[in-house]
Amino acid sequence: MAPLNTMIANSAKRAAYVSAQAARIVWYTGHYAAGRRLMGPLTEPGEAPYAEEFLPLDRQRLKDSFRAAFRQDWKHIEAGRYRMPAELRRLPSLPGLIKQSRDYIRDSKKVARRKHARGHSEVLTRTNTEKYPRYYLQNFHYQSDGWLTAASAERYDMQVETLFTGAAGPMRRASLPLIGDALRGKDVASAALLDIGCGGGRYLQGVKENWPQLPVTALDLSPAYIGKARASLGRWSDMRYVEANAEATGLDSGAYDVVTAVYLFHELPPKVRRIVAAEIARLIKPGGALILTDTIQYGDEPGFDILLENFPRGFHEPYYDSYCRTALDGLFADAGLTPGGEVVSFLTKASVFHKPVS
Ligand SMILES: C[S@@+](CC[C@H](N)C(=O)[O-])C[C@H]1O[C@@H](n2cnc3c(N)ncnc32)[C@H](O)[C@@H]1O
Repeated sequence: MAPLNTMIANSAKRAAYVSAQAARIVWYTGHYAAGRRLMGPLTEPGEAPYAEEFLPLDRQRLKDSFRAAFRQDWKHIEAGRYRMPAELRRLPSLPGLIKQSRDYIRDSKKVARRKHARGHSEVLTRTNTEKYPRYYLQNFHYQSDGWLTAASAERYDMQVETLFTGAAGPMRRASLPLIGDALRGKDVASAALLDIGCGGGRYLQGVKENWPQLPVTALDLSPAYIGKARASLGRWSDMRYVEANAEATGLDSGAYDVVTAVYLFHELPPKVRRIVAAEIARLIKPGGALILTDTIQYGDEPGFDILLENFPRGFHEPYYDSYCRTALDGLFADAGLTPGGEVVSFLTKASVFHKPVS
């Protein structure tokens, strides 16, 4: 049995975890409810609400799975698989929260108008077409400015947390132990990790909190999101920021022990997924790993299939349905990677793929 002082310290830590997460869940669920009211029904009048092929939503299982994600998160923290994240250790600033809340609600009204007008191509301009692929120039989730402005990058984390009513942290962190496994036995300071489609850097916060000496490359196609990542990860050393297309990064072959991609693949058209899979396989060192963190797919939780089917109807996600039907083992086998297991946390699945040594 653990000594009494360790048990007391653990209970205090657990209480801090529970209260911080409870406050976050209330905060984001409140914003989710407000946002959904502004958005109205997910489908337009006359449109079928969902496809007949799926079972009804298993609401009890959804609640249980939401809770299980937090239980698993705590267990990992308690077991030292990763540290208590900074977002739970520090109180957020009240003016910051108020600003975030106002911006979210104000923007939700614009998102609702855009959704009802099916305005998902506002960023498809002649100037943008010269710089970015066509599939990238969409207002994914009907978000304002697509991926292209600082305001969008600033708002993005609040939108993700709200969509998952506070569970985005535990869902992203579920893949951190897989990074620990991939780095086991290596000198962390001499290893290298690439996060491809890093967005504003939220996932990499967790990576650097746990492996501060690990050299990390953050790559994204959006200058605005790379700018946000640079600002939010500024206190960490051994960071490199690359603005590039994941299809052809220009980075060195075999340079990375670990490549991570979080919520990137469901945003890519099927053909582009194959190109990016091959590019990732090129970048990984023999013996290294890809850790892919993205939505669960059809069949992972049969009682949630209808939710996956319904999601892209309400939140412009043109490639989501095809991603949910993609056999990941086959996609990455074609790129030369072999499956190495997966973990599920609520609506997210992290899958490992290894690059064979020879
Ligand atoms: C849904 S966001 C995920 C961001 C982040 N990984 C996270 O955990 O929230 C998708 C990100 O992928 C980037 N992205 C999409 N297509 C890309 C491409 N072809 N090359 C590089 N980045 C891309 C977008 O700019 C955006 O930042």
